[in-house]
Amino acid sequence: MKNYRLNLIPGDGIGVDVINEGVRVLNALAEKHGGIKFEYNTLPWSCAWYLEHGRMMPTDGMEILRDCDSILLGAVGFPGVPDHISLRDLLLPIRTGFDQYVNMRPIKLLPGLVSPLKNDKIDFVVIRENSEGEYCGRGTTTEDKAIQESVFTRKGTERIIRYAYEYAKANNMTKVLSATKSNALNHSMVFWDKIFDEVRAEYPEMESNQMHIDALAGYFIMHPERLEMVVASNLFGDILTDLGSAMLGSIGISPSGNINPEGKYPSMFEPIHGSAPDIAGKGIANPVGTFWAIAMMLEQLKEKPSADLLMDAVCAVLKEGKATTPDIGGKGTTTGMTDAVIAHIL
Ligand code: NAI
Ligand code: MG
Repeated sequence: MKNYRLNLIPGDGIGVDVINEGVRVLNALAEKHGGIKFEYNTLPWSCAWYLEHGRMMPTDGMEILRDCDSILLGAVGFPGVPDHISLRDLLLPIRTGFDQYVNMRPIKLLPGLVSPLKNDKIDFVVIRENSEGEYCGRGTTTEDKAIQESVFTRKGTERIIRYAYEYAKANNMTKVLSATKSNALNHSMVFWDKIFDEVRAEYPEMESNQMHIDALAGYFIMHPERLEMVVASNLFGDILTDLGSAMLGSIGISPSGNINPEGKYPSMFEPIHGSAPDIAGKGIANPVGTFWAIAMMLEQLKEKPSADLLMDAVCAVLKEGKATTPDIGGKGTTTGMTDAVIAHIL
């Protein structure tokens, strides 16, 4: 029997609902498989925990977190605690502290989903830099002026662009598109472009292009069928992937893998959406982003058959359309949709 130890951070709002359902799905996959087991350590770190303790996680939080095979996160952030505190004091320290410098976000119109675009050929991957860039947190604020810095290092920029090429090559993609804005960002993005040019030269077989982020946002809408691999900085990748998930019908669809490729630290998987205070407590959060994140986690744990089984079950439920949540046009609930997915698994 293989035992996987998972650290869970459900977080706030709908994060709690989707992680609860994620655990039910994992248990069903373990039952079906017969040879694997999941052991959960649920950590209460959240905005509610912050209001009680004055911190987003305990001082030894990173040591507690490190001791596992993988981390599963719902979402953090809730009215009453400023968003920059919940994000900067929990999520970002994990991503940077565990050197999860790759943020992988597949954008794929699964069978059964209907895109709001007049296009059903949407299947690409965004690789987002996840450890520095615009989210480095440096800067100063005075009464009259705020300065927000970005940090792009050669090491950080080169490794993420190279990872995108290697992933593209390994997955039979033919082109890589870099998101830039070097017309306005004369330091950071000129540097990004220069390193992109250096790395692309190592992959002559791959079609390489770059596009300014504003034009690229339009291109996502007009020509998603032309996209295969998009590599972007921390901020640009963040924005582009909410757009990408919305192109699939809902922000509740897409997953996100915060990956430490060297395996020195655990990776962390989560849906791309936030805690959605506007629907929290209503039981209607779409759990697909979390299920897909779990499938990505299972692939990383080398449990591909279970990952495939889960995604097949999700697609079957989407195609039937009977149990789907309101964000994608259904009348179902989070729990009901999970019940349907589990019924397909077992
Ligand atoms: P959000 O992603 O929470 O919500 C945006 C919109 O999408 C809302 O209308 C929401 O109802 C809808 N939505 C999101 N997920 C859904 C799902 N699974 N099913 C159905 N509808 C869904 O983004 P927002 O409103 O900007 O942020 C809310 C809070 O979440 C903030 O505190 C923010 O800082 C935090 N946040 C946390 C993230 C994380 O923990 N990784 C990521 C993004 C935001
Ligand atoms: Mg985001």
